[in-house]
Amino acid sequence: MSEHARTAGPRWSGALAFVLAATGSAVGLGNIWKFPYITGEYGGGAFVLVYLACIALIGVPVMIAEILMGRRGRHSPVNALRALAAEAGASRRWMALGWLGILAGFIILSFYSVVAGWSFDYMLAMAGGRFTGSEPEAAAEGFGQLLASPGRLLLWHTVFMLISFGIVARGVRGGLERAVSWLMPLLFALLLLLVGYAAVEGRFAAGLAFLFRPDFGLLTAEGVLVALGHAFFTLSIGLGAIMVYGAYLPQRTSIAGATLAIAGMDTVVALLAGLAIFPVVFAVPGVEPGAGPGLLFQTLPYAFGQIPGGGLFGTLFFLLVIFAALTSGISLLEPVTAYLQERRGWRRLPACALLSVGIWALGIASVLSFNLWSGVHPLGFVDGLAGRTIFDLLDALTSSLLLPLGGLGIAVFVGWVMRRRDVAAELALGEGLRFRLWYWTLRVVSPTAVLVVLLNGLGLI
Ligand code: PHE
Repeated sequence: MSEHARTAGPRWSGALAFVLAATGSAVGLGNIWKFPYITGEYGGGAFVLVYLACIALIGVPVMIAEILMGRRGRHSPVNALRALAAEAGASRRWMALGWLGILAGFIILSFYSVVAGWSFDYMLAMAGGRFTGSEPEAAAEGFGQLLASPGRLLLWHTVFMLISFGIVARGVRGGLERAVSWLMPLLFALLLLLVGYAAVEGRFAAGLAFLFRPDFGLLTAEGVLVALGHAFFTLSIGLGAIMVYGAYLPQRTSIAGATLAIAGMDTVVALLAGLAIFPVVFAVPGVEPGAGPGLLFQTLPYAFGQIPGGGLFGTLFFLLVIFAALTSGISLLEPVTAYLQERRGWRRLPACALLSVGIWALGIASVLSFNLWSGVHPLGFVDGLAGRTIFDLLDALTSSLLLPLGGLGIAVFVGWVMRRRDVAAELALGEGLRFRLWYWTLRVVSPTAVLVVLLNGLGLI
């Protein structure tokens, strides 16, 4: 065990708390908002198969590596990398990987919070019966009106940041652990309830067939790359969120076992979200599943409005989205907060407050991207980025560049830079077939696949 591994610091109360927190981080807007609409866009079942393969072959190995780095480094990402690089006799420049994560977390939370905020608005609108029996155009208009209003967007962005701050400021056990041990069971219960409702009131068989009947004719090369990119985003890997959660993991917990549980639950939630959404969408004639990002905020509210009980279940649906987003939001705030505490010796409350204000302020740029600044295209002179707002650019910068880079860095660091015996000791799987299979995948398959996504994202291949 390295000397750093013994450093005292906060710890989860046990394996279950870690699994809940990491599953909370993984399950978010990615599962409920993005997964269903990209599945819709790329044709359903075949896309789902490719996505599952990406999770198993690339997501899981890299996630194991990231948790392992956190637990062995026992610090926030920047200092964990300092400790691990020292242990491996490698350059301190590897700390840049930690910095990259800090930066990505800061940026992602700034716009994630804005999108999460939409759900508050929709929850209230649903509860108030705004969509009950509405016309399709009215639902689309409602979304347009929300986006056109900087005041409403700012209000909900502020509310989301305040709640996240309120949780993270209370610390690992008193804040994060307590929040996830309430929110996660509620989230699962809500999701099952909504799937049950979709089975009763929706066209469940049509939803099932759409998700699970593969039609490879509809799958494009772009779809494959989107699936791989999404595997990273949905598992929260590549930016140190899972790393810092790993830093609080008790030494005796099995990293591989915990990872399988987390990735498994994340996948099940994405599929169940699909089963809660598509049957409802198919229940209403003339409504298409391939509506893109508007699926959750235009198509679905309209569909809910047309079927019995839709007002109540629609309200619960958006409450579910809020819970899912919150447990992800706090995992984005934690690594940055932990870093500021370590680095400056600050107490948690002021560290977290300062960061929350900073992230909130950056989020205003995303708020305005939908209205007053919708015509501002800072990189409009770059080919392929014309017409992209600040929000679009921040999203692309993190999802297409920083996360894959972070994932690549993690795979290379654990696979090639850390000593094999340290890696094996931390994983405690022995050196048998399971270990060798993972190690080989991490060293060869994951970096290659990520590199392909990265270069493609940059438009280079
Ligand atoms: N995994 C989260 C989701 O699916 C997003 C996220 C990414 C959270 C990276 C933390 C870190 O919504």
